[in-house]
Amino acid sequence: MEKKFSRTLITTALPYANGPVHIGHLAGVYVPADIYARYKRLRGEDVLLIGGSDEHGVPITLRARKEGITPQQVVDRYHNIIKDSMEELGITFDVYSRTTSELHHKTASEFFRRLYDNGKFIEKTSLQPYDEQAGEFLADRYVVGTCPHCGSDRAYGDQCEACGTSLNATDLINPRSALTDAPVSMRETSHWFLPLDQYEDALRSWILDGHKEWKTNVYGQCKSWLDLGLQPRAVSRDLKWGVPVPVDGADGKVLYVWFDAPIGYISNTKEIRPDTWEKYWKDSQTRIINFIGKDNIVFHCIVFPAMLMAYGDNFQLPDNVPANEFLNLEGDKISTSRNWAVWLHEYLRDFPGKQDVLRYVLTANAPETRDNDFTWAEFQARNNNELVAILGNFVNRAVVLTHKYFNGTLPAAGTLAEVDSSLCEAVKTVKATLTENLENFHFREAVKDAMELARLGNKYLQETEPWKLAKTDMERVATILNIAINLSANIAIAMEPFLPFMSKRLADMLSLANLTWDSLGNMELLPAGTTINQPVLLFEKIEDEAIKAQLDRLAKIKEENKAASFKPAPIQEDVDFDTFMKADLRVGTVLECSRVPKADKLLRFLIDDGLNKRTIVSGIAKHYNPDELVGKQVVFIANLPPRRLKGILSEGMILSAENADGSLVVISPSATATPGAQVK
Ligand code: MF3
Ligand code: ZN
Repeated sequence: MEKKFSRTLITTALPYANGPVHIGHLAGVYVPADIYARYKRLRGEDVLLIGGSDEHGVPITLRARKEGITPQQVVDRYHNIIKDSMEELGITFDVYSRTTSELHHKTASEFFRRLYDNGKFIEKTSLQPYDEQAGEFLADRYVVGTCPHCGSDRAYGDQCEACGTSLNATDLINPRSALTDAPVSMRETSHWFLPLDQYEDALRSWILDGHKEWKTNVYGQCKSWLDLGLQPRAVSRDLKWGVPVPVDGADGKVLYVWFDAPIGYISNTKEIRPDTWEKYWKDSQTRIINFIGKDNIVFHCIVFPAMLMAYGDNFQLPDNVPANEFLNLEGDKISTSRNWAVWLHEYLRDFPGKQDVLRYVLTANAPETRDNDFTWAEFQARNNNELVAILGNFVNRAVVLTHKYFNGTLPAAGTLAEVDSSLCEAVKTVKATLTENLENFHFREAVKDAMELARLGNKYLQETEPWKLAKTDMERVATILNIAINLSANIAIAMEPFLPFMSKRLADMLSLANLTWDSLGNMELLPAGTTINQPVLLFEKIEDEAIKAQLDRLAKIKEENKAASFKPAPIQEDVDFDTFMKADLRVGTVLECSRVPKADKLLRFLIDDGLNKRTIVSGIAKHYNPDELVGKQVVFIANLPPRRLKGILSEGMILSAENADGSLVVISPSATATPGAQVK
């Protein structure tokens, strides 16, 4: 049954204010939400785009502790970075607030209290990890110990990062506190739980029967949660940072961050619409859409809806939750803690004025149906081959020719030829698919549709060749340019949700005011006589150097990460002194060094060992150019039995050390030694 809605409330997952936002957040949540909001506004609909920072939770307290500052200082810093950078990217939030605001604390607190008063919670006592020294209960993340699966001694109480297994704090061997390193004890504490099992039937019919149109990844995840059976979930925590539990005797307890954060959507709506916020939440004519990443599905489709059901008062459930998969970066998972990301504020600094390029690449390659990979090579290629070569090129030709032949005044179109009418038809067809794709959250396809208009334009100019007709048939040239300019105006509209900065420049160039979705498809949008301004550059080529700088930065981070996670191999079992002394280690000087044919790892050395010249084959070809070793001194084992390697008799072994990244460095004396000198 098609429902008719009169307004849309679009929410975006509130990012944790414990770090800046990166391209993964943007591709998954903020860019698609902004596209959708802009599209709806072009349709003249009543839309609110809600954003804000999620400022509670353990990760923020952890970060504060690490940096020796307060949680408030952490969130103040990142809230501002995130807010400013998203604004600069053109994400048109109607409100971007914070969960530390007074209004939010009040709203979340009242929400909890109503559920509490209406007996919607159950209270349960359980044993939780406790740090006697700090006098605090420990969140799972604060407990460290030995992983029962892989033996890593740096596993956290919620997950072992060495082997990826998710854990409970009680699974750890020798659990210690991450705060004080003291051994962890278990203490009794009581918490409030929302009995999700009581909402299971309602959730089943709402999602599984009522929303078969949801994306398969979302629907599938919901189904498997529901099929497993829901359990009561704790909605409070023993923590100092958060919304205090508004119940007598609950000192030292706060609302669980996943309880208060989604209520932030409501608080933020209140903030921007203090008088009318209720119609965005409690009127069945409102359509609520939650834009999130896949790791947030259960909270938005199961937990928060159950909270809203428990609250009652006609709160509406989301109509759709178009969650995206993850974006990787150059083949590796994006990670805030490993600094493996392209940070938005850094991108804006490194590529000033290129907001649309990032928006375009993240949309054209959005992780809508599966995880996707962002690469700088693709970024450059999409800019140079698509934005510059197709879109920029078409618009530029249309505008330049209008100046050349008509002094920048749009000429009137005469009778349309076949090629003209079929172009106009094609534009209408594109509008239909584009609209359909936008309505269904298929933004990758949608941006392709919008781009198709520019492709059609290039093809049209190629076929009609107005520059050839200029000498013979100015009337025909007038028609062609009228159509080309009107197509450009259509592009300004179709692209506005995706490339708003370009769209603005283009509309200004064409004296096109008041962009509306209704006028898309109208190829008589700009009347004859319209002033076409001087062409301005819409996109510029991105050179190899700019890309190389980004790749170098990532390579450096990779190195640093490897070094940071390097764990030297355990010391081997004892060797008795006499056995060790039998190894005859000596210094030799490299006389010759060359690659061994058909062996990509091997180098062949000729060494002056003080007595003779000897040949040694060594597996370090990946790490050195043969030339750089000639004349150097090396340490080698002189009394190993000769061995044949790739047909060469090797008389000894050159010593080298293996670094964290697997690279090998040859061991040399720190000052010149006499060839043949024994190493003792
Ligand atoms: N901060 C959460 C995350 O980054 C998202 C919170 S969404 C909200 O995963 F609904 F809780 F606000
Ligand atoms: Zn492990």
